[in-house]
Amino acid sequence: MPAISSLDAHPLLVHPRKYHHIDVQPLTGVLGAEIFGVDLREKISPEVWAEIRNAFADHQVIIFPHQKPSDEQHIAFARGFGEVIQLPQLRSVEGHPDVQIIRRLATDTGRVIGENWHADSTYLEAPPLAVVMRAVDVPLYGGDTGFLSMYATYEALSPYFKSLIESMNVVHSATRIFGSAYLAQTRRYNASGTRSDMNVELGDREVVHPLVCTHEVSGRKFLYLNKTYSQRIDGLTLEEGAPILAFLHEHCSRFDFTCRARWRKDQILVWDNRCTMHRAIPDYAGQDRLMTRVTIAGHRPTR
Ligand code: SIN
Repeated sequence: MPAISSLDAHPLLVHPRKYHHIDVQPLTGVLGAEIFGVDLREKISPEVWAEIRNAFADHQVIIFPHQKPSDEQHIAFARGFGEVIQLPQLRSVEGHPDVQIIRRLATDTGRVIGENWHADSTYLEAPPLAVVMRAVDVPLYGGDTGFLSMYATYEALSPYFKSLIESMNVVHSATRIFGSAYLAQTRRYNASGTRSDMNVELGDREVVHPLVCTHEVSGRKFLYLNKTYSQRIDGLTLEEGAPILAFLHEHCSRFDFTCRARWRKDQILVWDNRCTMHRAIPDYAGQDRLMTRVTIAGHRPTR
């Protein structure tokens, strides 16, 4: 069999379907779409919800430009995707604990929250299903978020490599985010970002998730690991696991698996936190950026 490069392998593309109530404009063939023709401040009809859910399942990241929801309307829309939860490491908006804050001030100099490719909180047994994020105050330029399809990363692997990793599990923890590995670092998050009262024991707690998971709605397989929370491959020595993780982390940062969301004030974006990763792009030094986000409860990822 001739040697092939994984750069020659490409993921399956999303085939846009027909919509009757909303206008869906894909951002790339792999993930991301903008949705027009719906006002998220109004009550959304079941027909429109059905189409929004189809677009979410197909495109994994959906963007609603030109919205102006209040915090209550933001929560009400988010509830359409499932039960709302709060992440322990984030601060909340005064009076709205379910609306949590991602903020960086012009004067902040510490680490930017989420600057590596990651899915949110995979250190939890049941990581979030989705996040509904709203741009409240955006920099004049910069501060986009990158998204990456983990369906695409899986689909571009060779059949033999897929069969090698199929039954592997990965150990995840938040030790580098708010556990003892974080405390041992000198480079800290900016004070306006995360909470200062985090539980180090929770940060160090380990959970094990399959490396290859199946999406509960689409039935498609996706890789499930990230540099932020994945620590090692369960049951392998560190030396055995390290080259596999190094290859996968490199593979899971390929530009052709991504899209980039440009934030505009009052834009709402929903990402599927199961089958995508995202990355905050820290290129807006000296400017303020404020996002609010509502997190949707998920289930334990399964093969
Ligand atoms: C995050 O990782 O949750 C933050 C994403 C962003 O600020 O763009």
